[in-house]
Amino acid sequence: MKIVALLMSGCLALTGNAHAADIAAGKAKAAVCAACHGDNGIGTAPLYPNLAGQKAPYLLKQLKAFKAGERTDQSMTLFVTPLSEADMENIAAYFAGLPPDGQPAAKEKATEEKPAEEKPAADKSAPE
Ligand code: HEC
Repeated sequence: MKIVALLMSGCLALTGNAHAADIAAGKAKAAVCAACHGDNGIGTAPLYPNLAGQKAPYLLKQLKAFKAGERTDQSMTLFVTPLSEADMENIAAYFAGLPPDGQPAAKEKATEEKPAEEKPAADKSAPE
């Protein structure tokens, strides 16, 4: 089991970008966030924002702002308190890598089903 985990993290290191962000670690730390931001990064209630596919630098900036008290929200302030800067970087990278629609499989389908843009000729039969 440990070997599999090691192999997997090795693959991630190889395919990941040069940044130090550790997506697997970010995912582990993000487990507690799922109650509100969803397993797939899609908020579970209207007031819980989607994080999936959001840009990593933006997410990191928001997490830091919550932690510094520049941005305040009762729940968020509580949840960022135990996070280190590395944790926040990893979490931001993790959510940024999730598909923004929350459904990786349906994503391809959606592109396929995209209707061809067919506009009827504009009805501009202006009377003389
Ligand atoms: C109890 C619910 C709850 C939990 C748990 C929670 N959040 Fe949030 N989060 C919120 C709410 C509510 C907001 C919106 C705050 C506001 O209105 O300013 C928010 C906002 C955010 C934002 C800013 C999004 C944006 O678009 O500006 C980020 C990033 C974020 N949360 C990350 C996390 C992370 C990472 C965790 C876990 C460590 C987490 N949250 C756990 C409720 C929660």
